[in-house]
Amino acid sequence: MSVASLQGRDFLSMADFSTEEIQALLQLAAQMKAGAVQVRCAKVLGLLFQKASTRTRVSFSVAIYQLGGQVLDLNATVTQVSRGEPTIDTARVLERYLDVVAIRTFEQQEVETFAHYAKIPVINALTDLEHPCQVLADLLTIQEEFGTLAGLTLAYLGDGNNVAHSLMLGCALMGMNVHIATPAEYQPDAGIVERTRAIACDRSSVLLTQDPYEAVTGAHVLYTDVWASMGQEDLAATRIPIFQPYQVNEALLAQAEPKAIVLHCLPAHREEEITDAVIEGSQSRIWDEAENRLHAQKALLASLLGGVSS
Ligand code: CP
Ligand code: NVA
Repeated sequence: MSVASLQGRDFLSMADFSTEEIQALLQLAAQMKAGAVQVRCAKVLGLLFQKASTRTRVSFSVAIYQLGGQVLDLNATVTQVSRGEPTIDTARVLERYLDVVAIRTFEQQEVETFAHYAKIPVINALTDLEHPCQVLADLLTIQEEFGTLAGLTLAYLGDGNNVAHSLMLGCALMGMNVHIATPAEYQPDAGIVERTRAIACDRSSVLLTQDPYEAVTGAHVLYTDVWASMGQEDLAATRIPIFQPYQVNEALLAQAEPKAIVLHCLPAHREEEITDAVIEGSQSRIWDEAENRLHAQKALLASLLGGVSS
């Protein structure tokens, strides 16, 4: 397994990489985390963020520092992006200064347009459609716990959002069964569902249900995220009663496999999509998951920048 094929590539969707490439990336991340592999890659990363971020911003910054590189925080308010400079112009300018860019924005089309016009690697650091960097860390966390991914079942409860989409694609690519429980009006994007089913094919199963208890039955991993994502804050209050049956609490967790673990990408709204007792409980791996953002993204940066000798 090698990450050599990732050099110079973009990472805009979880489905941009093959099963073998994700396996190689996770192996590199685990080796870097253990201190078994050290990579020097003195390059410059730009963070072009139009939404708030704690984990993604800090973990990408620390990752490039630890590789010997530098980071530039280019949030929209300090660049001409806030005054409407077109993406196609920003992309062609920034590619001449930066070695790699991570973008957090609204439309998936925005990162795709940027990547089309910029020759440097472009990373999706969250759009309304996907959050693939999060899912690299999630897969690393699940692999650490169970020693494998193929054959496990992940149940996602709540809103069929960006995190759900990347999880569906990532789980299918790794041969995991994926169960998605959402209210009827909040199902995942139909295109992502179709793509997930095509990847899973006859290797693993994809279940979409409105019944949270059906979803968690036989699950090794329970996963949830906020009920209203960034940009939907004004809808948060009206969504609470609709999503309440999907809360990850001790009763729901008791229905999963006895050794099931619980993940949440964070930030969490405690006592909404997940209870305090579950976040703080013995089956939570949420803090390891947050730590793994650093290790997974360090491996990703090193691979895209061609810093890993084969
Ligand atoms: N999980 C995640 O992406 O967190 P931030 O929004 O804090 O970056
Ligand atoms: N679905 C959430 C994830 C935050 C990391 C959002 O987009 O706000």
